[in-house]
Amino acid sequence: MSIAAIIDCDPGHDDAMAILLGARTLDVKGITTVHGNVPLSLTTLNARKVVAFAGLNGVPIAAGMDRPLVREAIHAPEVHGQSGLDGPELPEPAVAIVDEHAVEFIKRTAAEVDDLHLVPVGPLTNVAAALRRYPQLAERIAQISLMGGSLTFGNSTPAAEFNIWADPDAAHVVFTSGIPIKMIGLNVTRQVGATPERRAQVRRIGNETARIVAELLDFYSERLKKLFGLKGGSMHDPLAVAALIDSDVLRFEPMHVSIELRGEHTYGMTLCDYRHHEPSDIEAGGNGILRGEPANAEVAIGVNDDRFWELFLDVLTTYP
Ligand code: BDR
Ligand code: CA
Repeated sequence: MSIAAIIDCDPGHDDAMAILLGARTLDVKGITTVHGNVPLSLTTLNARKVVAFAGLNGVPIAAGMDRPLVREAIHAPEVHGQSGLDGPELPEPAVAIVDEHAVEFIKRTAAEVDDLHLVPVGPLTNVAAALRRYPQLAERIAQISLMGGSLTFGNSTPAAEFNIWADPDAAHVVFTSGIPIKMIGLNVTRQVGATPERRAQVRRIGNETARIVAELLDFYSERLKKLFGLKGGSMHDPLAVAALIDSDVLRFEPMHVSIELRGEHTYGMTLCDYRHHEPSDIEAGGNGILRGEPANAEVAIGVNDDRFWELFLDVLTTYP
């Protein structure tokens, strides 16, 4: 029995990869869209295009929050292009979105489905808004596996990763919700790149979906090479799916994560307390300051990039 999940996203090239991986390995109850890489109207259109080219038209899509809780909206066209999914010509969407806001969709699905998992791979606004409107929702969510933050460096700023920086207040709501969280941050996702050799492997699969994926990854990799000097586009978002389906892809340590909401240089940073990664260190910590706050997340500290890539290639072979 696969894990029941909602993918909450802002497609986005790597969000598209998360949808493709998730649709074959999780029991996806729906896709919810949020502002982020581009405005909500475009992230929603892009989610509809992804399900169209991958033949996933049965998966419901609900549009959500069109702006952050407090800060002004920011987008990332420099990474994903003006459409949010630049590169190949994509087919027109075949299905409409459902007539329900993402916040209501999440709440209703959580009431109907036991052990529901959330996989947020964009700004956390939908999840935070749902938790604020329906506080009892926290008890109905088995786990959140999110792409966001970093144990080390940022990408939007030296300290902050895009998904958290795009709505730090929402991230604060989520990290203080008490829901078990897996945080898959830049420190690991940057290690899994769609290099030219790997894109050639995708092309060799030979189906139409893989052709489109290869072209999306070409565009995205070119942009990340220009912006950050990377050898291949980072597979950020699908790693949040992989975390739920294959325990050998990522290694985690429990830590306390706080979201920096006021820092002049560190606004939007995920401050991870990495001091006590061995239980014995906590004992040795003695006083309260050194012991720190109890862990509120499992933070990814290592990744097996070849294993992830094998999994991704395998899944792509199952598409039309
Ligand atoms: C995150 O930001 C977005 O551009 C990507 O889709 C990913 O979710 C990486 O920082
Ligand atoms: Ca994303």
